[in-house]
Amino acid sequence: MNNSRDQELLATARSAREFAYAPYSRFKVGAALLLEDERVVCGANIENISFGLTVCAERVAVGAAVLCGCTAFERLALFSDSEEPVVPCGACRQVLAEFAPELGIVSQGLKGKVSEFNLGYLLPSPRQGILR
Ligand code: THU
Repeated sequence: MNNSRDQELLATARSAREFAYAPYSRFKVGAALLLEDERVVCGANIENISFGLTVCAERVAVGAAVLCGCTAFERLALFSDSEEPVVPCGACRQVLAEFAPELGIVSQGLKGKVSEFNLGYLLPSPRQGILR
């Protein structure tokens, strides 16, 4: 990472993080998803007192993209409270892979460390053998 596009996306993810509803874990995550048509949609985690109903920032962003009429994703930026940049959970990997199995992801922790991932590496074969 070091290009201005990623810097901008990370700044947007950082702003989205402020809107997280995370009273239980107090761990706020923001997501900024760059769409193929160059729009950017955001997400932040939304927790629930029934913990299993919590939705991660990534899946909130995917919902926003679908509602914007775009399911072609270019890049995902994440910003989290942790020192170590956060990596999408298994459920989010599968949901992201529905639309962009090779999505590039850049993630930054509060102290500034940046990591990059490729979804195809994080979740190989997301569709193999399913429904065919
Ligand atoms: N969380 C995300 O929003 N994205 C991730 O990639 C990892 C975890 C949220 C879910 C929960 O609200 C909190 O972080 C602690 O797991």
